[in-house]
Amino acid sequence: MSAPSAVTGTADPTLAELPLRPELVGEVPYGAPQLDVPVCLNVNENPYPPSPAVVAEMAAAVATAAGSVNRYPERDALALRADLAAYLGHGLGPEQVWAANGSNEVMVHVLQAFGGPGRSVLSFAPTYSMYPEYARGTHTRWLTAPREDDFGVDVDTALAAVAQHQPDVVLLTSPNNPTGTAVDLATVAAVCEAAPGVVVVDEAYVEFARPGTPSALELLPSHPRLAVSRTMSKAFAFAGGRLGYLAAAPAFVDALRVVRLPYHLSALTQAVARVALAHAPEMLAAVVELRSARDDVAAWLTDQGLEVAASDANFVLFGRFADRHAVWQALLDRGVLIREVGPAGWLRVSAGTPQEMAAFRTALAAVLDGPVAERLPTGALTGSVR
Ligand SMILES: Cc1ncc(COP(=O)(O)O)c(C=O)c1O
Repeated sequence: MSAPSAVTGTADPTLAELPLRPELVGEVPYGAPQLDVPVCLNVNENPYPPSPAVVAEMAAAVATAAGSVNRYPERDALALRADLAAYLGHGLGPEQVWAANGSNEVMVHVLQAFGGPGRSVLSFAPTYSMYPEYARGTHTRWLTAPREDDFGVDVDTALAAVAQHQPDVVLLTSPNNPTGTAVDLATVAAVCEAAPGVVVVDEAYVEFARPGTPSALELLPSHPRLAVSRTMSKAFAFAGGRLGYLAAAPAFVDALRVVRLPYHLSALTQAVARVALAHAPEMLAAVVELRSARDDVAAWLTDQGLEVAASDANFVLFGRFADRHAVWQALLDRGVLIREVGPAGWLRVSAGTPQEMAAFRTALAAVLDGPVAERLPTGALTGSVR
């Protein structure tokens, strides 16, 4: 029996003593390390905060919302969804847009509605490491088909996997995390034609794609079971505000409304997100610079003789190191935090300010001169997706 805790005054069991769901035993909370270091290039944030004028407007909106914080928020967040629809364009209306606390929550709603016990979700690995956790949390079977050596999704591989598994949900990430690879619309359309269930294209990073890259939003009118997921966390510089959204047919959105918790989006979130959307051009102003920061760092990494994945996102995957953890740690020791993620040997660096990118290059150049930078032989890409 556990002794009462001196700190809390309650019984203080260990995790192993609690009747946890069996599939959660041994699991740890997801998350990149949040460390207090000078240069944070690890979670693909936009490094530029809003201007003082936008901050002041957000503060005023919070003050107004706080004046009626005794009441529940507008449950369907219709004004916010109308703003999101206007931002997306493509003739979308509020009834075709869903919003939640980050696209993480949007995707959980999708799996709660369309996945679940006895159902499956198929994606293409390596991909975003939260997806298996959404699947686990909703008791949906997690299935993957492999990406190509250049991390692209081959249409024949995709169609074969759909035919084999008959998944209830197909999750295509474009541009993909952690590789930065975009999926072409013809592949998305072919998967939509073949899939027996719903198809979600996660476009969390789409604003960073090369100009002219089409969005899967274009396919919505012709594919009623397609949904396109977006976030304000990346290009929109609103990661702390927690706002993700999705565009789909009104009936698809109605399905998500069935599973959401009541009042899931706080009045404060809705108010601040609406201010951010009212200033969309300003919030998105750094995208052009961040694209160049990405392209510059990719070229520099290639010049160092490293393997670099072609990226349409605000980060670059590079490697491959015999001991990537040692390289990651050596960068951290120099005050630069990047992400140890993706298949074996790879590391991911986010696009930051010019000062941050200069600090990254200086630190990595020093590490590459040292003993920890041994490379893996070029060849087949293997390893875990995490
Ligand atoms: C591909 C992808 N989708 C979704 C998300 C979740 O974003 P958020 O919950 O902040 O909207 C991320 C975050 O890194 C991501 O990389």
